[in-house]
Amino acid sequence: MCGIVGYAGPREATDVIVKGLERLEYRGYDSAGIAVLNDGAFTLRRSVGKLGNLRQRLREEPLSGQLGIGHTRWATHGAVTETNAHPHRDSSGKVVVIQNGIVENYLELKNQLLEQGVEFQSQTDTEVIAQLLGRYSHELGDFKRAFAQVMRELRGGNAVVAIHRDHPGLILAARIGNAGAVVVGEGQHENFVASDLPAIVDYTQRMVFLEDGELAVITAEDVSYQTLQGAPLSKTPTVVAWDPVSAAKGGYKHFMQKEIYEQPRTTTDTLRGRVDLEQGSIHLEGLQLSDDELASLERIYAVACGTAWHACLVLKYFVETLARVHVEVDYGSEFRYRNPVFGRNSLLIALTQSGETVDTLAAMAEAREQGVKSLAILNAIGSQAGRLADAGTIYIHSGPEIAVASTKVFTGMLMAGYLFALKLGQARGTLSSDQVREHIQALVEIPGKIDTMLKDFALYEELADRYHNVADMLFLGRWVNAPIALEGALKMKEISYIHAEGYPAGEMKHGPIALIDEQMPVVCIATNDHVYEKMLSNVEQVIARGGRVIALVNPGDTLVRAKAQHVIEVPATTPLLAPVLNVIPMQIFAYAMAVRRGADVDQPRNLAKSVTVE
Ligand code: AGP
Repeated sequence: MCGIVGYAGPREATDVIVKGLERLEYRGYDSAGIAVLNDGAFTLRRSVGKLGNLRQRLREEPLSGQLGIGHTRWATHGAVTETNAHPHRDSSGKVVVIQNGIVENYLELKNQLLEQGVEFQSQTDTEVIAQLLGRYSHELGDFKRAFAQVMRELRGGNAVVAIHRDHPGLILAARIGNAGAVVVGEGQHENFVASDLPAIVDYTQRMVFLEDGELAVITAEDVSYQTLQGAPLSKTPTVVAWDPVSAAKGGYKHFMQKEIYEQPRTTTDTLRGRVDLEQGSIHLEGLQLSDDELASLERIYAVACGTAWHACLVLKYFVETLARVHVEVDYGSEFRYRNPVFGRNSLLIALTQSGETVDTLAAMAEAREQGVKSLAILNAIGSQAGRLADAGTIYIHSGPEIAVASTKVFTGMLMAGYLFALKLGQARGTLSSDQVREHIQALVEIPGKIDTMLKDFALYEELADRYHNVADMLFLGRWVNAPIALEGALKMKEISYIHAEGYPAGEMKHGPIALIDEQMPVVCIATNDHVYEKMLSNVEQVIARGGRVIALVNPGDTLVRAKAQHVIEVPATTPLLAPVLNVIPMQIFAYAMAVRRGADVDQPRNLAKSVTVE
């Protein structure tokens, strides 16, 4: 949500910044803007809508200069207008600011400034920062001290970057709370700041991540770090290995399509170096819990949002089946507000692609306050969740996921969750090495099976042709596939904008069955397991009411095949691992429907990749 890019160095700042903002487009935004220093003054260009509009503005009225900042805004305070787009200036025009997050006390600060006669141009909380910074800079005669003072007065989660006309070579950046990352890229005679790695990784791999309460002082030749109280900090850059080429579309029509196709590789990468088939053992390098600590666990809280929350639901089945530990699944947005009761020997597991989802981070913070450790299963390297996770991390190593709709990270989360469940089961003695060996064998076969599922999209295109105009859809599954029904419905609504509901199939007769008529496609997950016959009955119930069944079945199935209007064949695996395969048709089907409907697949309306506000 919102993107930040800043640059100081010999290049044209506009080029670096706009290219960087394009790399952050996946985060979701509705307007964009840039400020560049030229001839001792900052010039701004802002526009509503996609970056193409800003590019057009810049073609008509070019900006040239070697220092600047740019921003993509996802509106929180004030409508989507050019005036509300960042950057924002103070009344003197000397100070220019961009911000990610929400200034929770902005009204209080704004009222104080209004009483002092300050006139505001926009409705945003960010202009309050610019006006305050302008005032303090004037009063203190020290831009850096003024910036630190403003940051200390803000309440909320905020990433702020500021520049000042009287300090033309300087960019200041700071972070408080969980507003998403602030990454400083240290280059040679040039330095960068951004809200995510892909924006600047083309230029440098030496990255410093700001923590809560830290400030970076950036010029072309130097970067220094300090606390908001002014104490100097020594921070060592992390050298990131992300390949910028892998962030490009690489011949695919959409990032989502590319990411669906990447899953044979990404699921392999999640397993890489972690499974020992000979020994029948699991090695999770980032896990900071001893076998004794694992063995003594009595309760796990799995917390996440959206697709990652569906991965938590699947994780519950994995852990309860393989390790016999009770798992409670919670929404990040609900967890801290329900005053959770933590039992003895509890562990919180946060699942998150971005590692910056504010609700998930808040759940981790809540656990910490109550003395409960957190483990993060996450994708984005250097993100906040990794730093908060005092029980360690399990990186899923899926690489950058650019499409807003999560695909490869979901399967990565399931693979990583399964590894954790095996490790836990072994530590607790619920699984022998022989049993772990069998599970590993099934796991290592998953990538190849996904590969066979990606060979032919023709069936999905036919389905999309047939159903792309429907208004509603239903997704049903049982047991470990019930969460996959939820995920199928979420994928469908996110990118195709078709209203879709996901249910455990047994729940259908308690309400959703009333919706079924001849117009209603119902996706039924009916792969082989101990609830197959129950699922068969649900298929019959749908058909009896005229619904159109699109069924997922394993090869050799005859019973469901004889009844369903459409059948998608999924390779067989163990029943417990079936969700990793069964979600693939959900992703492809949603993708095909969205393409057929002409929707903006990678950046669906109103959605953001990384949700850093409540
Ligand atoms: C997935 O398709 C979504 N766009 C969304 O639900 C996402 O999974 C959720 O916002 C959580 O994000 P995270 O994994 O980065 O924490």
